[in-house]
Amino acid sequence: MRRELVCVETATPPRLAARSVELPQPRAGEVLVRVQATTVNPIDVKRATGYGRRLLGLKGAARFPLVLGNDVAGIVEALGAGVTRFARGQPVFGLLGTGRAGGAHASHVVVPQDLLLPAPKDADPAALAVLPYSFTTMWLALRSTGINPTSAQWARVLIHGANGGLGRLAMQVLRPWGCAITAICAKGQRQTALELGAQVAVEHSPACIESLSSDFDVVLNFANWDEDALLASRLSPRALGHATTVHPLLANFDRFGWLGGAWTSRRDRRQVGAIVASRAPKASYSWTIFKPDRDALEALAAGVRARAFALPIGIAAPFGNAIAAFDHVSSGQPGRAVLLP
Ligand SMILES: NC(=O)c1ccc[n+]([C@@H]2O[C@H](COP(=O)([O-])OP(=O)(O)OC[C@H]3O[C@@H](n4cnc5c(N)ncnc54)[C@H](OP(=O)(O)O)[C@@H]3O)[C@@H](O)[C@H]2O)c1
Repeated sequence: MRRELVCVETATPPRLAARSVELPQPRAGEVLVRVQATTVNPIDVKRATGYGRRLLGLKGAARFPLVLGNDVAGIVEALGAGVTRFARGQPVFGLLGTGRAGGAHASHVVVPQDLLLPAPKDADPAALAVLPYSFTTMWLALRSTGINPTSAQWARVLIHGANGGLGRLAMQVLRPWGCAITAICAKGQRQTALELGAQVAVEHSPACIESLSSDFDVVLNFANWDEDALLASRLSPRALGHATTVHPLLANFDRFGWLGGAWTSRRDRRQVGAIVASRAPKASYSWTIFKPDRDALEALAAGVRARAFALPIGIAAPFGNAIAAFDHVSSGQPGRAVLLP
């Protein structure tokens, strides 16, 4: 049997319950993984309250009772036809897309082999489970700005939300690429941001963005949509791009319906896009949306092998105390939240 953690209905705090269902069987190209660790990301906490119900509903990913979660680390238990890259008993980690089939908060999940990576020997499953979803989103954001190891040398990068999961991973990628990083971080996190590789770190305050120079090649907003326009005003005329993961796309559709959501999102995007274009005619402006990406997973695999990527874990809870992991995230406590099925 498979034990799965379900969000019973839309509620704040989440109404969680564990239930047993038939063990899923892997089809061609799929792998059945016995989950040792999975993660509660900020999106899970939001989805538990009904966030994203319209757009995610299009993918069948908003119907309650809902199994949340995108990250998985565990052991291969069975292989579908044609799977050649993995063997039974092998430790792996990887991703599930957000869709009809449900998420990773379960004792067993079926994962397409393209979304799985071999885990290094002796790696801690919890340490691996906190990486795939956040790394993939961060990588998609970076890629949309056009920055790469060649263009990154000496590039000036501004990261808002630098002490969060995406911000830390961005620093772990960009520092070895030779970027000069300015980190906007939470109160008390300045020293940590400097230790993680920021050249300059400022604690967030209402005026802190305006006090920064306007010469950034790349802006990454992992913190606050309300400050996206202000962040865009810090781009240099030669900037490559600006990416935000905290755009209001899903919220606009939830709030204003199909037509109103589309109209409001277009307006919101154009408003900041116009500032980006006025500052830097060649710069891109992107709203990042998580989706599984093989290129991102390969970059993650290389970094994990080199022990270059890690996120601190704030809580590791069994399913029986899953609510503590959700509380940890919703109350903004430091470190990632891991579930141990
Ligand atoms: N679009 C997508 O597909 C997608 C995918 C993944 C993540 N996301 C979103 O991207 C964001 C970053 O993800 P994460 O995993 O890095 O989250 P995280 O670990 O919670 O970090 C968020 C960071 O942003 C800061 N922050 C939050 N609200 C803020 C505000 N109002 N003003 C200033 N700073 C604020 C936090 O500071 P404190 O430490 O002070 O709270 C923290 O530094 C989250 O909002 C997440 O939901 C979007």
